[in-house]
Amino acid sequence: MRYLGNKTRLLPFILSKIDRLGLTPGVAHDAFAGTCAVGRALKARGWRVASSDVMTYSYVLQRAYVVAQRVPSFAELRAGDGDLRAALRSAKFRAAVAARGGGALAAVAEYLSRWLEPECGFITEHYAPGGGRMYFTEENARRIDAIRRRLHVWHTEGLIGDDAYYILLAALIEGADRVANTAGVYAAFIKQWQPNARHHLTLAPQLPIRGARGCTAHIDDATETARTLGPIDLLYVDPPYNSRQYSGYYHVPEIIARGWFEARPAVAGKTGLLADGAQRSAWCSPRQVEGALEALLAATGARHILISYNSEGLLSERVLRGALERAAVDGRVVRYAREYRRYRADSDHVGRTYRGGRLRELLYYARLR
Ligand SMILES: C[S@@+](CC[C@H](N)C(=O)[O-])C[C@H]1O[C@@H](n2cnc3c(N)ncnc32)[C@H](O)[C@@H]1O
Repeated sequence: MRYLGNKTRLLPFILSKIDRLGLTPGVAHDAFAGTCAVGRALKARGWRVASSDVMTYSYVLQRAYVVAQRVPSFAELRAGDGDLRAALRSAKFRAAVAARGGGALAAVAEYLSRWLEPECGFITEHYAPGGGRMYFTEENARRIDAIRRRLHVWHTEGLIGDDAYYILLAALIEGADRVANTAGVYAAFIKQWQPNARHHLTLAPQLPIRGARGCTAHIDDATETARTLGPIDLLYVDPPYNSRQYSGYYHVPEIIARGWFEARPAVAGKTGLLADGAQRSAWCSPRQVEGALEALLAATGARHILISYNSEGLLSERVLRGALERAAVDGRVVRYAREYRRYRADSDHVGRTYRGGRLRELLYYARLR
């Protein structure tokens, strides 16, 4: 998923430092999980991962990519959904499933992507041209609505279990992102249809990673989660670096993740923002970020800490290093740096001018116990 601060491309750098520091698999807390790029990689390497984030869509990705262990069989669904059984009898449908690699997960993804009748729902009403916004074409918005409602019905009627529900919902969030008419974040939609927005929305669910058992997902503040986890081996910290609140940049995936079946979300403004009080992050506030770091360091029971930060972040090098030195058992902090190309989700505008195309990604390490 296109995501500010996604660490996929920096994984070789981060994992090589974990190796160089001699940190061997144990329990790790990926405290600002986002897309779970780091949590998944740690799980695959044998770490038991607890991940947390304040956003609901991240919780969905955590359940799909970090917690789920096995590919669901969909036995109850095949027995209980006549429409899916009818699709499975069609040779054309079976050929499309075979082209996806076959298997029950591919069959359900194909059914949701191409056989389910699109319908009007919350996304069509608010984030398509009929609702005055151009995040999705009318057709794709109706596909999102139909798939989201079907997943809700299957889950509440017990036709799919939690793993299947979150794997498919994660695929919907990622599939919708691929056809979103944005420059990468949902802070604005583009006024002309971009080529990606005209593609047919398709689900491409990812197979669960087999790794350490007992991984957990938390929709909560990093510090609160750290407190409940108690003693662990490694805390990985990858907070927002600047004042851009993720709740305002990813409100559309947030609504898809939450659904609108128990209570319809109240949305407002040009971009259809949610009232996001509880999801506003202290890490995005110049006045609160230092306190947030101190509170996390006080709450964690981790033996080792790694912090990803960025050379243009709200926390200065002096403040970040000072806090870590005070928390470290031996007062020592190691810093690794790596240059990378800037993720350009939005363009320069008044009051925000990018300094060049390259940033320095910093990785701080300290031993806490
Ligand atoms: C830089 S991104 C993390 C990216 C992630 N490592 C990845 O590879 O996708 C920062 C994340 O912190 C989350 N966040 C912000 N404040 C938080 C808090 N107080 N506790 C937990 N997560 C928070 C945001 O929702 C966002 O997903």
